Order: sequence, then structure tokens, then C-alpha cells
Amino acid sequence: MKPIAELSLGYSDAENYQRRENKDLFNSVFVKNEYLEDLLDPSTFFLIGEKGTGKTAYAVYIANNRYKNTTGQLKYIRETDYVKFVTMKKQEQLDLSDYSAIWKVILLLLLAKDIRGEELSENPFSKTMKMRRLMGVVDDYYQNAFAPEIVNALEFVKDSKISAELVAEALRLGATKSTSTTKNESRFQVNLLFVQRQFEDALRGLKLKNNHVLMIDGIDIRPGKISYEDYLDCIKGLADASWSLNNDYFPSIRDSDGRLRVVLLLRPDIFNSLGFQNASNKVRDNSVLLDWRTTYPSYRSSMLFALADRLLASQQTEFLEKGTAWDHYLPFVIDADNPNRPTDNPFIFFLRYSYSRPRDIVTMLSILRDETRAKLPGAPTTFSKQCLESNDFKSSHSTYLMGGIRDQLAFYYSEDDYETFLKFFTFLDSSWEFSFGSYRDVFSRFKLTSVDHLEAPPEFLGSEGDFLQFLYDTNVLCYKEVDENDKPLFRWCYRERSSANISPKVKLDAEYRIHYGLLKSLNLRRRKLR
Ligand SMILES: Nc1ncnc2c1ncn2[C@@H]1O[C@H](COP(=O)(O)OP(=O)(O)OP(=O)(O)O)[C@@H](O)[C@H]1O
Ligand SMILES: [Mg+2]
Repeated sequence: MKPIAELSLGYSDAENYQRRENKDLFNSVFVKNEYLEDLLDPSTFFLIGEKGTGKTAYAVYIANNRYKNTTGQLKYIRETDYVKFVTMKKQEQLDLSDYSAIWKVILLLLLAKDIRGEELSENPFSKTMKMRRLMGVVDDYYQNAFAPEIVNALEFVKDSKISAELVAEALRLGATKSTSTTKNESRFQVNLLFVQRQFEDALRGLKLKNNHVLMIDGIDIRPGKISYEDYLDCIKGLADASWSLNNDYFPSIRDSDGRLRVVLLLRPDIFNSLGFQNASNKVRDNSVLLDWRTTYPSYRSSMLFALADRLLASQQTEFLEKGTAWDHYLPFVIDADNPNRPTDNPFIFFLRYSYSRPRDIVTMLSILRDETRAKLPGAPTTFSKQCLESNDFKSSHSTYLMGGIRDQLAFYYSEDDYETFLKFFTFLDSSWEFSFGSYRDVFSRFKLTSVDHLEAPPEFLGSEGDFLQFLYDTNVLCYKEVDENDKPLFRWCYRERSSANISPKVKLDAEYRIHYGLLKSLNLRRRKLR
């Protein structure tokens, strides 16, 4: 097997695998499992998972490969898109339903673009006429340089007056000028609706052989310049548009084997903030929820272990039985913290120090490779226990984990709020475990010195209960319960989450413990606060 220095462990963000030169690498490391099949289900409209659980990875896999008669496109919402939306909102005095209408046209345009080519040539000509003419309009508008990105589609929408006229002309429908606006409608809205109808009509006429799925990513990133309210309006419009296309319009296309679908990639907290009605039904019936939980005793049959093992095995030229590559590269045991098991496989260390997410595992292996290269002389062929358990490894890993929490916070809050958040931990007297009573005491001292003087304290610091829930939501801490045999059970938000319980609640009046992986960054030790 390859020496450590030659291991290429890929990328920790799957966005990189969309580049042509990385496609083969990705296909060799990607682990196909039930989530991929679920994503192909015609009723899947949301792909939900915490940071680093593989949302982008699944979408990239579908976009890169024509998997089971499904062609996919993965598009990202970028900062420029939000900026355009906000400008348009001001210019045209738009409200939420306009946002939804705008998104509908964008989504239809992007889907239509994907259908051109082979699918059209196989359709009876009469059925495709309308689509050809429409796409002719799009080509003219962009002078044959339409790159199917949200930002470009948005331009077409923004110029709705021109685009509606071009569409009317091409379809010989007579100018839209003749349609009058009612009191509550603006010209912009009428034009937009007209364009939307034409696209809907054109798509309805087609007999598709393949399924076409449009996946939208990047929703979880709020650019610093855009206010939370503006951002939320924009993505609520997107959610509304895709829901309505998926539920009302696409199913109305009969006679076609291939189906159209839009899938949104979302973090659970953002899915919640969309304020859907019957949100829990939508999670159960229309979502894939990425969940990589396993237990220490059954780690070896887990998907997460398969992912780690595959990453190492994919580098080798020979075929390897499952688990061989892992056992080769990590040929040692670690101390168990359970009296029933004297030792553990090093994978348990990965589980203990991570949130059981693919990105954690990929990143830990990369850090370990770098540590091994830097610390061990010669050309090591395996990882060492000493490197895995070293302070340097734990520090780098801890920094990575805190980075994830910081990103998640940045979505709702400012950099200053993050700094305030960090101050809380300085009141813990370096301890990682505390009772509810101690927590209240710590929180009130923290509030007095670091929060009360703030002009606009962040919402998560509203009350001691709010903050505790916040620490739980971000997986900074868990609460402890005991089972009937007095065995401790550690309740983590990411482990309690399920489609029936998408935002788990922290228990008050319990004992709490901070995550292993964060101790280094937060300067805490494994001891209980008195
Ligand atoms: N099924 C899988 N097989 C192999 N690798 C995977 C799989 N799922 C995820 N990964 C790897 O895990 C890492 C994180 O995945 P990804 O970037 O898709 O996470 P994400 O959920 O999109 O995170 P974010 O919310 O930060 O965008 C990537 O390196 C990706 O390649
Ligand atoms: Mg992603």
C-alpha cells in the first residue's frame, strides 16, 4: 500500500469534486448508499443535513454521473444573486409573492436549458416547437452566451419587459401590452407571469425520457453584506417557488416518462427558519435527512467507517476487502473509556472527537497525515498512535471543529457576537462538566460582565434557557441522563435529531458536558465544575 506521504485524501468540501479534473477521484471515493437512492425518489424535494454531512457530495455525484436515468444540475446561490434580489426589491417594490414568481422563472429557465439537446431531438417535432422557440429567445437575449447560472437567469427576469416582448414575438402571441394590469398588479408582475406560463406550457408538451433534477446549494451561506431579513425573504421565495413547482406544476405534466424536480440543499436550522407549514411532514415525506450516527460497538458496519475505509482503499491499485485499508494504516489500539472493553479500535477515537460527520472524518485523516509527515522520520507507511493522541493533532482538530461552529453562528450573528459567545467559556474554571445549578451561576456572572453592557445583545443570550439551548443546538454540549442500570447516556443534539424531531430540545435541570473535540480550543480540561 502507498506510503503516507503519497496518500491523497481529497477535499473536505465536495464542491471541489465538480471540477472536471476531480471527477474520477470523486467517483472512486464516493460511497453509494441509501441516501443516493432516496434522493432519486420523485417525492424528494429537500436534502437536509448538518454542516459537513455530505449534502453537496450527493448532489455532485448526481450532477457528475447520469445515475439511473436521472440527469442533475447543481447550482449555487451566490452573494451577487442576493445583491441583485435586494436591488430589484427596492426598484420594483417587490413582496414575498413576487420573489416566489421570480424564482419560478429562474428555476424553469434552468431546467429548460438542461432539456435541450438529445431529449428535444427525440421528441416529435411539433411538441418541441414551443420549447425551441423559447430557447431561441433565450439565446438571442444572451447573444448565444447563456451560461445556465442563477445570476444570468435573474438578468432575464429583471428585464421582464424585454423578455416578455421577445417571448411574445417568438411565439407570435401578440404583444403582452394588450393584457392590461389590474389595480394590484404591476407591469413587472404581469410580464413575469406571462413568461412563466410560456415556459410551463412548453415544458408540459415534452415527452421526456430522463428525469431532470435541479439542485440548489449555497442556501446556508448568508453574505455579510446582506441583512438577515433580506436574506430570509429571498430564500423563502425560493422555497415557496420550488415547493409549488414540485407539487402543483410538475405533477401536472402527464404523458412523460421523465420527471422534473427541484431539490434544495439545506441545514436543519435553516429548513426550520423557512417557516413551512407542516414542516415535520415535509421532513418525513419529502426530504432526505443525512444521518451518519453509529454506536461504538457497531462502528465496523457503519456507513461512516465504510467512508473512511474507502477513502484509504481508493488510493491503492489492488482490490481490498472491506476494512483492510483502515486496519493497514491504523495498526494499533487505543485505551477504551468503558470498563467492559479493555481497548478500542482507533476509529472510536475518530467518533469520540467528532460529530460523526463525513467532513470530520476526512479532515481528521488529513490532519493525521500532515502530522505524521511532519513528525515521523523517513517515509512512514502507517499512521502512528502517538501522532493521533498528540496535543498538536488535538489542537488542529479542535480548531477545525470550532471553525464549523463559527461558520454556523456567522449565519445569524456578527463576528462580535461570536467573540461574546467565546467569553462564556472563560467562566467555566477550565471544566468541561457542570450541573444546572453551576451553569446558572456561571451564566449570570458571564451576563453581568460581558453581556449586560452591550447595546444589542444577540438573541441567543436572551435568557439562561436560550443560551443553554443555543449551546445544545450548536453541539457544543450534551446533557446527561442515566438509564435504568444507572449507566450514563449522553444526549447530543445531532444524535437526537430525526425526521420526527428535527429540532431537539435541551433538558433543563440536568448535568452537562462539553464536547471532547472542543476542549483544546476552549481551554477546558476533563473535570467537573464545583
Ligand atoms: N457518500 C459519501 N462518500 C464519500 N465521501 C463523502 C460522502 N458524503 C460526504 N463525503 C465527503 O464529506 C465531506 C463533506 O461533504 P460536503 O462538502 O458534501 O458536506 P455539506 O453537507 O455540503 O457541508 P456544508 O453544509 O458545509 O456545505 C466531503 O469531503 C465529501 O466528499
Ligand atoms: Mg455543501
